[in-house]
Amino acid sequence: MSNAVAMQPFIPLSEPCLEGNTWNYVKDALDSGWVSSVGPYVTRFEQEMAYYFNVERTVATVNGTAALHIALLLAGVQPGDEVIVPSLTFISSINVIRYVQATPVFWDSQATHWNADPAKLEALITPKTKAIITVHLYGHPMNMEPVLDVAARHNLKVIEDAAEAMGAYWQGQPCGRIGTIGCLSFNGNKTMTTGGGGLIISQNTALMERAHYLINQAKDDALTFSHDEVGYNYRLTNVQAAMGVAQLEQVSRFVQNRQDIARRYSEAFVGHPALLRFAPPADAISSDWLYGVALNPEAVPGYTAMDMVKALNDQQIQSRPFFKPGHLQKPFQPFAQHPCPNAEHWQRYGFNLPSSSTLMPDQQTRVIQSVMDVLDQWIGQA
Ligand SMILES: Cc1ncc(COP(=O)(O)O)c(C=O)c1O
Repeated sequence: MSNAVAMQPFIPLSEPCLEGNTWNYVKDALDSGWVSSVGPYVTRFEQEMAYYFNVERTVATVNGTAALHIALLLAGVQPGDEVIVPSLTFISSINVIRYVQATPVFWDSQATHWNADPAKLEALITPKTKAIITVHLYGHPMNMEPVLDVAARHNLKVIEDAAEAMGAYWQGQPCGRIGTIGCLSFNGNKTMTTGGGGLIISQNTALMERAHYLINQAKDDALTFSHDEVGYNYRLTNVQAAMGVAQLEQVSRFVQNRQDIARRYSEAFVGHPALLRFAPPADAISSDWLYGVALNPEAVPGYTAMDMVKALNDQQIQSRPFFKPGHLQKPFQPFAQHPCPNAEHWQRYGFNLPSSSTLMPDQQTRVIQSVMDVLDQWIGQA
């Protein structure tokens, strides 16, 4: 690496934006002494999220993984049941299936998109299938219509993993409110953050009441410490919720910035023979949490996403390949019953580029130029 390159400022993949009232509300929560898992900001955050999602009630959790775990319990998933899950996802969507001792059934991606292929769904259903997890990966909504149709015909619950999709819409509905239960993540790298945090959403208010009960140690009587079921301590703290309220005030700007960034990448890459771009379904709006693009191996034979990621990282530009598919992960290899060649293809050739809502146009120009330079070099060598 030359010194000139080493001195370039680092461009992160996805950094939080802690502007607006974030500091004020966190200070207010600290000053009030309500620092733990009850307090006015928790209530306010859940109510404002309920308004955003146009539901009666939402439940804030300690993180998105906890939200997904509770969602499986709400869906009534029992040990030995099967849960269909996209293979190409962050590991959390799959880990939670084992938390309830159910069996993950891996669902392949589309040939033209990283998201799971609705046409391959019905073949995965068996008498043991209880639920389908849909993932709006990198913020691109799944086409939910065929999924809801299959679920209705087979009496299955649909859990929307909308961890990456705050701000995304499918047929006019916010992602997270479409299935039986939806889950969000507010991890530090997400479009809006509470440091760590999550949310459970459902149009079924009875399910939300049960979610509140389960995340509060299944407390039946606070005075006598009576608990009629095994519960969990999955609550979000008031300090984190204060951050959440402030972030929610700004989320439309954060989402707009990410969408603008994605559009600029797509415009720069259009027509490039070595790059394949991805578009969400026609009736959907992506949250564009992370911009994803894939190499066309015919144009740059022998190169993979990892080669691009390393080249960019050498230039202080943080990039990463698409997630390693679940069926290839060590704990889940015994459950790899169905081939997922498209998921493997996208993981081999797909990579994410810096997408922070704070990314400046000159930084993005540098990222685009670096990608182009690397490709020119590879094509020149061929
Ligand atoms: C698709 C997906 N599902 C679930 C999660 C889990 O969320 P958390 O990290 O808040 O537990 C994440 C993010 O981290 C994610 O990207």
